[in-house]
Parts: sequence; C-alpha cells; structure tokens
Amino acid sequence: MTRYALITGASSGIGLAMAEALARRGRNLLLVARQRDRLESIAIELTQRFGVEVLFRACDLSEPLRLSGFLLELEDGERQIDLLVNCAGIGTCGPFLGQDWMTEQDLIEVNILALTRLCHAVGNSMALHGGGQILNVASIAAFQPGPWMSTYHASKAYVLHFSEALRIELRKCAIKVSVLCPGPNHAVFFAKAQADEQKLRSNKKSMSPEEIALYAVRALDRDRAIIIPGRRNRLIAMLPRLAPRWLVRTLAGIFNKTCYSRCPPSDLKTRAR
Ligand SMILES: NC(=O)c1ccc[n+]([C@@H]2O[C@H](COP(=O)([O-])OP(=O)(O)OC[C@H]3O[C@@H](n4cnc5c(N)ncnc54)[C@H](OP(=O)(O)O)[C@@H]3O)[C@@H](O)[C@H]2O)c1
Repeated sequence: MTRYALITGASSGIGLAMAEALARRGRNLLLVARQRDRLESIAIELTQRFGVEVLFRACDLSEPLRLSGFLLELEDGERQIDLLVNCAGIGTCGPFLGQDWMTEQDLIEVNILALTRLCHAVGNSMALHGGGQILNVASIAAFQPGPWMSTYHASKAYVLHFSEALRIELRKCAIKVSVLCPGPNHAVFFAKAQADEQKLRSNKKSMSPEEIALYAVRALDRDRAIIIPGRRNRLIAMLPRLAPRWLVRTLAGIFNKTCYSRCPPSDLKTRAR
C-alpha cells in the first residue's frame, strides 16, 4: 500500500506550506480543501518540483455528508494515511450575538467536528496498520478565552485539549499526536475572519506560513507534544497560567475588540463569508 500524508486546508496558508515542506521531504500527499482548481494546480506544481505523488480531493468539511463520502473513499482505497495534518480552519471576529449563525456553525463544523471525525477515522486506520502521526492545528488563541472571538478561541482550546488527551490515549497504538499553536501570521485568514490584520500581527517579525511549516515539520521529527513556533508566541501561551483568569479574559477582550473595531463597518459588510 502506498503511504500518504493527508493535509486538510491545503489550498492556502499554513496547510499549503505544510504540503510543500512535506513534499520537499519526499512524502506523497493527499490534499483536501474546497477549491478544486487551487488543489489541482498545487498538486501539479508539487509533483513537478519534488517528484512525489500528490492526490487531491475537493471536500467541504462543514458538510458532514460530504465528509462521510470522503471517509468512505479512504476506507475503500489502496491508500494508507500515515500522517494526518488537520489544518483547515475558519475564524470569526466581532460580537457573538451579531454573527451570522451559519458562519458560527461552519466554524464549529470545520474547526471541531471535522477535525475530531478525521482523527477518529484515520486514527482507527492507523491503529490497524501499525501506527502513524497526527498533527492538529490549533492557535495561541487556545490558551485563553477570547471575547469578541469567542467561538474561535473556544474551538482552538478544544483542539489543544483534545490533542493532548489523544496523545496519551493513542500512544499504545503507536500513534503520535501533536498540536501546532501558531501566533497570528497571515493575511488571508484575517480577511476571512474580518479582523484587522495590522493590529493582530502587531509585530513585524511574525512568522510566515512557510516558517511555521518548517518549524512544525522539524518538531514532528522530535515528536513534540505542543508546538508553538516563535519565542514571543511561547511567552504569550505561558502568561495565562501565571495571571488570574479575570485578568487574562479582560486583556484578551481588549485586544480582540481593538482588532475588530479597527475594521470599518462598510468593510465588514462587504467581506465574503
Ligand atoms: N493565520 C493565522 O494567523 C493563524 C494563527 C493561528 C492558527 N491558525 C490556524 O491555522 C489553520 C490554517 O489557517 P491559515 O492561516 O492557513 O488560513 P487560510 O489561509 O484561510 O487557510 C484555511 C484553509 O482551510 C480550508 N478550509 C476552510 N474552510 C473549509 C471547509 N469548509 N472545508 C474544507 N476546507 C476548508 C481553506 O481552503 P478552501 O477555501 O479551499 O476550502 C484553506 O485551505 C487554521 O486552523 C487556523 O485556525 C492560523
């Protein structure tokens, strides 16, 4: 059976950078996202540059039936997934009660449900085939509650805790589980989340998706449990453990609200979901 690394959210940002970093190491890939054309051109490019086999599957992970179809294909096929990178994710920014409910639901479907289901399906297959590795992408947002990005922070806290717990449970099946917690880094994600990129990054030295992916791939080699690229981000992740929770949530709220309110209302209305 040919072995593949399955990467969700591979059509842009960190997922795409992970695909390139793994292809560079000679890994065959199975890429998943919604944009078929993007995936096709990425697959062609990576195959030409690195001589690896790159398959792709357009799938909307916010639709459980489509995900079921994809998982059935995985079961039937001759492909063995020995690395799962759950990178697809959505962010929203602004007052919770003012959010479009369908966008919030999609966030929960993609960031939590699809990720969990993929870990379950692919994890069972890995256990049958002698093991594997799972990398779930959370965020430094996972380390504190985030008023004005409530569902996003909560979804990433889920990913962090779930991954840490799985790491212990799946050890006996020879499945290594890690969680990647990047800091704010890249424009496409902020535009989709309707947040002020300049303010959120607030640091000219914030890492690019390529730097994050390289850091993550090296940390996977060392089987690191929680992977936080960047010294500043590691400090931000540690501070909530030292400060009282009321202070942590208040400061996070002030920070997020500033980023949100810097976006002109007209801009917010015109940005795509
Ligand atoms: N950017 C940051 O600053 C930052 C910081 C910390 C953590 N993260 C996390 O890193 C991960 C990747 O983010 P990014 O910055 O690379 O964002 P991005 O460039 O917006 O990429 C998101 C990826 O997820 C895919 N996706 C979104 N909705 C999907 C759906 N319903 N079904 C299938 N695929 C879907 C997108 O592909 P299609 O549009 O083709 O479907 C895209 O490939 C996310 O989990 C995010 O929470 C990002």
